[in-house]
Parts: sequence; structure tokens; C-alpha cells
Amino acid sequence: MSDYLQYAGKTAVVTGAASGIGKATAQRLVELGAEVHVIDYAPAELPGLASATRANLGVREEIDQAFASLPEHIDAFFGVAGVSGLQHDYNTTLLINFGSYKYISKTYLEARMSEGGAIAYVSSLGGINWERYQEELEGLIQAEGWDAIVKAIEGIGNEDQPGPVAYALSKRLLNLFVAHSAIELAGRGIRVNTLLPTNTETGLTADFAVMRGGRDQLEANSGLNNRLAVPEEMADPLVFLNSHAARYISGQPLLVDFGARNLQLLGRKEDMLDRPLIGEPKAAGS
Ligand SMILES: NC(=O)c1ccc[n+]([C@@H]2O[C@H](COP(=O)([O-])OP(=O)(O)OC[C@H]3O[C@@H](n4cnc5c(N)ncnc54)[C@H](O)[C@@H]3O)[C@@H](O)[C@H]2O)c1
Repeated sequence: MSDYLQYAGKTAVVTGAASGIGKATAQRLVELGAEVHVIDYAPAELPGLASATRANLGVREEIDQAFASLPEHIDAFFGVAGVSGLQHDYNTTLLINFGSYKYISKTYLEARMSEGGAIAYVSSLGGINWERYQEELEGLIQAEGWDAIVKAIEGIGNEDQPGPVAYALSKRLLNLFVAHSAIELAGRGIRVNTLLPTNTETGLTADFAVMRGGRDQLEANSGLNNRLAVPEEMADPLVFLNSHAARYISGQPLLVDFGARNLQLLGRKEDMLDRPLIGEPKAAGS
């Protein structure tokens, strides 16, 4: 049978591989014959990895150290690590979920990738409607370099808000960044996409249950098949996005929610996130 995915011998880097969607992604890539390097601040215990580096994506020096030990050429990058905000403050949530990836892309991926390279981030359904609110996001997207990104985040002036309030905003920023990035890198033959998962059974599920009013709320607002996804159901489409099979797909925010978003698009359910998020308390969502 043809190898449609063509990962054998490719160098892949996965963040967040100690748990959940990142772990399932790294596992699948190992099975497919890629050389898999992972970054997580927790220990990633997976057989077959080429390397596992402990680093906090919220700290520039730790990102720099991690990339110093990674290969000079990267074929596929999977930005999966992210936080709910429940265990972090507002600014740190934005920095980990969005700022770190902008920094990594500009500082390392653009230099280490060539024609055929592919980048896929895990955003969230919480980041929908990003295209309707570009104006409020654009200033943060334009910030170049770690210090400018940190300053732009501080400039929102919401540091006294709880971390979960930043979650949806962080994912909207990531989605908008992907749209820009896909345009900028297209000329070099590098693709950039993002996956927007619905509620998935992972290390973050307990946090999201608190943020969304209980586990039953997560179940009621997941896929139309009425259950949470399992990590592999997100990892597989993510692996597809960076694969040879998806070689003409770029700039795509791929909703993986078993069709549930259509209820909102068809007006059969309220669109909870159709509003600006900056300066609005109580804007949390997963
Ligand atoms: N689980 C869901 O319902 C859901 C829904 C939508 C989006 N997502 C997104 O999926 C992604 C993966 O999360 P998950 O659900 O698999 O949760 P998870 O907690 O199981 O996995 C996240 C991993 O990221 C790592 N990580 C977090 N912050 C880090 C940091 N600062 N530096 C280094 N590593 C860090 C954690 O140690 C963990 O291994 C996240 O970006 C999350 O926002 C999850």
C-alpha cells in the first residue's frame, strides 16, 4: 500500500508530549518511522523517542536551551503544549499558549525549515471567531521578539484577571497568527495549520470541567456524538495536517468536533464566543 503520510525518516518536534494530545501525537509519529524529538516541562516517557527535553515554554531561556539541542533541520513541528489558565495567571496563559509559539516560529522554525516543511499548532474551539475580531488582536500579532511579545501581553492590562479568562483569547491569537504565518511562509513551500479540538479526555479535562461548570457540561458541549474525544482522535488529524497527504493544505483552522459547530452556524445554538475578548471579564472557555 502507498505510504500517503510519508513520515519515515523525517525529523519531527512535538511540544506537550508528556500527556494527552501531544503524547498521542508523538506516539503516532514514532510508529510512522519519524525521528521524534519532544519538549515538555513534565517528563515524557515514551519508547522510541530520539530525544526528550524538559523546558518551560513560558521561559525564553528554556526554549533557547531546548532548541540548542534540537536538530538544525526540522521537517515537521507540532505545537501542542498549552494550559487552561486555571493553574496560571492571565499573562502567563497568553505567553504559553500564544507568545511562545510566535517566538519559536520566528526564531527557530523559519530558520530550520525548508520547502516541504510543515507546522501544526493545537488551538481550540475556544479560539473560534478570531476572524471577526482581528482589530483587537492585530497589535499583539505584530509584536516581534520575546520582549516585545511580553510587553504587548502586559499592555492588555488584564493581569489582575484570572488565568482562564485568557484562554479563549490565547487561542484566537494563535489562530490569527497561523493565518498570517501561512501567508508569509507559503512562498518558501512551508505550510502552517491549526487544529481546533472540542473537549478531549486529557490532563486538562479536570480544569475545563471547573471552568465550564462541571463535567456534564463538557459532555453536553462536545461532539454531536455526545462524548468527549480521546487524545488519539485529535492526534491523528494533527499528524495528517503535517503529512505529505495534506501537502496542499495550509492556513487551515481544522475544527475537530464531530460537527457540533454547525449547530451555532445554523443558529440552532447560541454562539457563546461571538464577542471581543480583551477587556471583558468572564470570557473563559475551552
Ligand atoms: N483537552 C481538551 O479538552 C482541549 C480542548 C481544546 C484544546 N485543547 C488544547 O490541546 C493542547 C494539548 O493539551 P491536552 O488537552 O492534551 O492537555 P494535557 O495537559 O494532557 O497535555 C498538555 C501538555 O503540555 C505540557 N505543557 C503545558 N504547559 C507547558 C509549558 N509551559 N512548557 C512545556 N510544556 C507544557 C504539559 O506538561 C502536558 O504534558 C493544549 O494546547 C490545549 O489548550 C485541549
